[in-house]
Amino acid sequence: MNEHLAHHRPQWKSHIGFLFTAIGSAIGLGNIWRFPYLCYKNGGGAFLIPYFVALIVVGIPLMILEIGLGHKMRGSSPASLAGVSRRAEWLGWWQVIFVMFGIVLYYSVVIAWCVSFFFFSFNLGWGADPDTFFFQKFLMVGETPFSIGILRTPILFSLLLVWLLSWLIVYKGVQKGLERANKIFMPILFILTGVIVVWSLGLPGAREGLLVYLRPDFSRLSDIQVWMDAFSQIFFTLSLGFGIMIAYASYLPRKSEIVKDSCVISFTNCLFSLFAGLGVFSILGYMAQTTSKEVGDVVSQSIGLAFVAYPKAISLLPYFPRLFGVIFFGILVIAGLSSAISILEAFTSAVIDKFHYSRGAVVSVLCVFGFLGSMIFATQAGLYWLDIVDHFLTQYGLVIAAILECVIIGWVFGAARMRQHVNHYSAWGLRTWWDWAIKVVTPLVLTGLLISTLRDELTTPYGGYSWLAIVLIGRDWLMYTLFAAIIVAAHGWKSDPKDRMISS
Ligand code: ALA
Repeated sequence: MNEHLAHHRPQWKSHIGFLFTAIGSAIGLGNIWRFPYLCYKNGGGAFLIPYFVALIVVGIPLMILEIGLGHKMRGSSPASLAGVSRRAEWLGWWQVIFVMFGIVLYYSVVIAWCVSFFFFSFNLGWGADPDTFFFQKFLMVGETPFSIGILRTPILFSLLLVWLLSWLIVYKGVQKGLERANKIFMPILFILTGVIVVWSLGLPGAREGLLVYLRPDFSRLSDIQVWMDAFSQIFFTLSLGFGIMIAYASYLPRKSEIVKDSCVISFTNCLFSLFAGLGVFSILGYMAQTTSKEVGDVVSQSIGLAFVAYPKAISLLPYFPRLFGVIFFGILVIAGLSSAISILEAFTSAVIDKFHYSRGAVVSVLCVFGFLGSMIFATQAGLYWLDIVDHFLTQYGLVIAAILECVIIGWVFGAARMRQHVNHYSAWGLRTWWDWAIKVVTPLVLTGLLISTLRDELTTPYGGYSWLAIVLIGRDWLMYTLFAAIIVAAHGWKSDPKDRMISS
């Protein structure tokens, strides 16, 4: 390895710091509102089958691949893939570009809503009708995705705060920013979630809520969409296909437990989701009992779960509802921020690796553009844009990126070669099953799922939107980020990305 590069690359201060930061990236908004809702929609406890199948078949092998790749190549996603082959570099750029100029733009807006609701909790500001409050007063949702209308100032202020905090953390760098923040965030997140879950489990009606959450309906397993939801949720929740884990692993020391760490990060994240779901459904059970309704009638769409159903339930609590609201939305803000900063870092490290600009300049410019770009999601059409962009980037972008990562590492670099590298440093050795998972099983399963979703969507446009909205907002978002990636990848390197590689 080039000693100059090795010397200048930041490193995690401690192993636990790395674990907390990677877990912080994985645990995000997706765990608290997306997972419980998906579970409910897709057959309750039966959904855990495709979910854990996806975790084992795709999640863990890919987590090992991404952490192994970043560790071996000592670089961000584009630098690492360029180290494998210059022809693969575009994929690294595409990932970090569509994640930075796509996912994090709407993700930061959802965190901003959580910030606003955190403040509303102090006086239960959503009032007696949280549904009307959220959609009509807070978001002021327009008629169609093209009814942009006005910028919602209350969201804008919270959004500014989210970008400022993210800027501050990523600006300070790997040890003093990301690692330090997550060492504070993660323990707080775990303790507060424990408080909320125990509190909710003690409420009358909690049992009925839990039965709805976990009662298996195995007939749902024959629906391909249930499997697609499980697989795309695994990518989203483990931050795979984002280029994040590759960048984070590039800051690991030479002697690292890649397999064990990958398992710890993946299982902690998925168990956290299951655990948080207990709290979410207990309180919905309580609300159903208090309002004499069925639990199924009080569960709403994913966004509505956190911002409509939950506020309704909080207002009905017998004791300290305000405190409950502050803790719940506080948890969402912490979980969201620790994931948003990981996305910023994935992009920042990519630009620093290739162009050698200073971290301060990159992060500052990025946050200004990020803030400006996320404004579209703070308009009256924001909710529609969020829905369409999220669907295309997670169900297509992340899945395609993961398939290509498998092909590049499995067939071009060589799965066996990567396995040897990982085993050289890990006490938990990988066997040849991993090679087959990366070379054959994962890409085939993902391609099959992708084709079947695509086939359905070519007949009926996603979410009942017009084709124009689907093409202009969803498909073109993927296309433009792809063009940008190809252009950036064509630019020359100041130092050969292969020089970063550590020999094993
Ligand atoms: N992994 C992050 C989440 O689940 C992005 O929200």
